[in-house]
Amino acid sequence: MEVFRIQGGHRLSGEVRITGAKNSSLKLMAAALLASGKTTIHSVPNILDVTIMAELLRRLGCAVSYDPANETVEIEVPETIEHRADYDLVRRMRASIAVLGPLVARTGSADVALPGGDAIGSRGLDMHIAGLERMGASVTNEHGYLVVQAPSTGLVGTQVYLDFPSVGATETLLMAGVLAVGKTVIDNAAREPEIVDICEMLIKMGADIEGVGTSLITINGVSELTPTEHTTVPDRIVAGTWAVAAAITQGQIKIQNSNPEHIALALDKLVAAGANVSDIENGFQVSMDKRPKAVDIITLPYPGFATDLQPQFIALNAIAEGQAMVTENLFEARFRFVQELSRLGAEVRTDGHHALVKGRAHLSGAPVEATDIRAGAGLVLAGLVAEGETTVHAIEHIDRGYVSFEKDLTKLGAIISREKTQDFS
Ligand code: UD1
Repeated sequence: MEVFRIQGGHRLSGEVRITGAKNSSLKLMAAALLASGKTTIHSVPNILDVTIMAELLRRLGCAVSYDPANETVEIEVPETIEHRADYDLVRRMRASIAVLGPLVARTGSADVALPGGDAIGSRGLDMHIAGLERMGASVTNEHGYLVVQAPSTGLVGTQVYLDFPSVGATETLLMAGVLAVGKTVIDNAAREPEIVDICEMLIKMGADIEGVGTSLITINGVSELTPTEHTTVPDRIVAGTWAVAAAITQGQIKIQNSNPEHIALALDKLVAAGANVSDIENGFQVSMDKRPKAVDIITLPYPGFATDLQPQFIALNAIAEGQAMVTENLFEARFRFVQELSRLGAEVRTDGHHALVKGRAHLSGAPVEATDIRAGAGLVLAGLVAEGETTVHAIEHIDRGYVSFEKDLTKLGAIISREKTQDFS
């Protein structure tokens, strides 16, 4: 077991470079299944989830190689691929569900184990299933697997209304629709930059997609796609985490290779908290020279405030002047980490979707446990400003979303180390 040991109270200053988005890279890798031949994807972060997705693709028949130095993955997709995604891999990573759409589109069927991943809420699949059924597929749940069968003539384009702009459901239907017969319309589609990224790659592969980045996506099915080369969009959540790191430590960080427009609302909140945010070439800079003011947050689908930045902002509010209401609309269990934050002395009361955070002048270091990727990031940020020593346990969660987090933090002036520990849990 490994922990981060942090000595709080050090201002961060310097620059970091953002790599490609985890939440895009994994889907781009799955999208490669849609065309036989070699697809190359750049700016793929060196994280465990990429290794899991590579193994999943191998079991489907692909040859996959990943070069961590260049952050490039090459996927050789055969003419004929398998259609089963096994439980032992899928349970370790929810994003495995991204193979569902491509498998049904390419092979006419898919057996995909019901996914695991972060323990941040129920994370249903009803919209994925309803959409595929509307396209003519039969979907059953057998022995823990989602078993999907398209008609013998293939999926049929149709109009699908999503109850909620789900990222995962939009991706499944997009990737199912590109090879379907006729026109698929996804109404109330998700508009996240990662969705735009997948659309751009699919278009390079020969897909006919209109309305990219809007809530009405129209796909005219084509009979075949060709492999391509693509660079992943920068990770806006990692960029946003560094932005909060600058603000919470009253420091100054240049965040390279990032698009501030992708986290415009979060940066606006930092300005309201008292930070200075300015554009730099190929990124942006955040600086802060006083104690932050508390800021209210309401998470919503893009372009609303990203739920994946909510824990980091709760950490910021925990040491801010004043009090703030944080409303979580996407994942009900995301406040689980508040219990851990209160071990550092944070004053947070939760009631359903709401968390009331009363800022305190000081937090005090303590052992805490990461409950998911972003909660882990939030706890590290709080540890950076807590007095004394904080140890963050279960950092394997953090490693799933942040490449060399502690090394970058050290370069910026934090006192943090990765240590082995004996945990009895
Ligand atoms: C993706 C991101 C995750 C981010 C989230 C919202 C990946 C690997 N993960 O997750 O980091 O927090 O988007 O921006 O890209 N829902 C249903 N039925 C469905 C689909 C979703 O009820 O069929 C619910 C979920 O339980 C959740 C909400 O909709 O409450 C949002 O889910 P969704 O947008 O699909 O998120 P993910 O794709 O799981």
